[in-house]
Amino acid sequence: MLDADFNPALDAADELARAWLAGTGDRPVTPPADAASVLASLPEELPASGLEPEAVLRELAACAEPGLAGTGSGRYLALVTGGVLPSALGADWLVSAWDQNASFAELYPAAVAIEHAAGRWILDLLDLPSGSAVGFTTGAQGANTATLLAARNSVLVAHGHDVEADGLQSAPWVNVVVGDEQHSTVFRSLRFAGFGADNAIRVPTDDRGRMVPSALRVALETLDGPTIVAAQAGNVNGGGFDPIAEIADIVDAHRARRRVDDTWFHIDGAFGLWVRAGHRQRSLADGCERADSWTCDAHKWLNVPYDCGISIVRDPATLARAIGLQAAYLPTQGGISNPVDLVPEASRRARGIPVWAAIRALGRDGIADMIDRACDRAAELARRLQHLVGVQVRMAEINQIIIGVEASATQSEDDRTQAVLAAVLAEGVCHPSSTVWHDRFGIRLSVSNWRTDPADVDAIVDSIQRAVTASA
Ligand SMILES: Cc1ncc(COP(=O)(O)O)c(C=O)c1O
Repeated sequence: MLDADFNPALDAADELARAWLAGTGDRPVTPPADAASVLASLPEELPASGLEPEAVLRELAACAEPGLAGTGSGRYLALVTGGVLPSALGADWLVSAWDQNASFAELYPAAVAIEHAAGRWILDLLDLPSGSAVGFTTGAQGANTATLLAARNSVLVAHGHDVEADGLQSAPWVNVVVGDEQHSTVFRSLRFAGFGADNAIRVPTDDRGRMVPSALRVALETLDGPTIVAAQAGNVNGGGFDPIAEIADIVDAHRARRRVDDTWFHIDGAFGLWVRAGHRQRSLADGCERADSWTCDAHKWLNVPYDCGISIVRDPATLARAIGLQAAYLPTQGGISNPVDLVPEASRRARGIPVWAAIRALGRDGIADMIDRACDRAAELARRLQHLVGVQVRMAEINQIIIGVEASATQSEDDRTQAVLAAVLAEGVCHPSSTVWHDRFGIRLSVSNWRTDPADVDAIVDSIQRAVTASA
């Protein structure tokens, strides 16, 4: 007989979570155990009989903890990994306790209403057109897919083609124009949308990874027919911003030359769009408000728990046409738009609720401060790394840095940079990650965690210095 008493499980989860969070500053940020050894520590045989929930949680934590990365630390710099704000974590726990299917306002009014309110605040914070549709996806990948499906619908509707009913088989050819360093998830979304990743026209980028506007102008001048242009606010490697305002002018000029409205402008700003919520780097993202759709991520710089991306489309009807869902058994009422028409999912967790809580807790000023602070810490980090003998700062923009290490008598630049990264990770004080950017192996540092403070910056610089000195 199952026990309806939640208290032992919740007490255990609470105790284990608090202990984990309390140890954030002390333990290595790189997990000591790899996935294979965590897997080996989990029971292989399907157990014939169960365990008390509390015991399950203790067993789970004991197996997991050796393999958990220290993403909550201000010294965790891999990928673009935000931490978790207390307000967002608490709200996320409530989302699980409430267990609402945040797709249908009629059946789950509170979950849908709170996500709707969070969406309004997102538009305000990012200074994007009010009235745009805001969907909370699993991440920027999902957001790129949803928005590019809306783009596909819109540019083909302009030619009288119903792509949702008739597919791409008989559709006019759609030109897809992207920057050469567009994020890999955009190419994957193009695959999902049936355009094919290799059909995209790739506009050259400059030494900072930014689309070259004159090359875009030339590319568009040769194109006829429906066209989607995707730009990037924040290159995942070095943080470079495509010159958005110039690109918007070029897209507008292209639009003006067309007899039908069959041009769509998309911006992937998974982390970079957040500079619009800050003060100091905001001008990099000027002109973003002129796009038709945007991708952003809350689990990055807003510091809410995974998983939470944000898809934004200026014309909600386009998005609903592209991905909306109807069935006789599904409720359609509820007074506000149903998230089932905003994201490519049917049942879904109310992942927008932690977004609401994070914004409510920090307010406009607190969020601006969080974004500006990360940019300041990253700038300080880049400045100090630049002064380390043997270290080259190859790129530093907003919260992203790429460094390399000069060749030594015995090692090439790439080999020594790899050796330094390996030594830093083995030490476990900080966790940068790797990349290959412009044909060179690089160490990527992303300052996205709300907790990164001056002491973290000191510790990161010292750790890298030790590794560089040891590799000399
Ligand atoms: C510009 C950009 N787009 C898309 C993504 C993919 O984000 P997600 O992992 O949330 O799908 C990233 C991830 O870093 C990114 O930087």
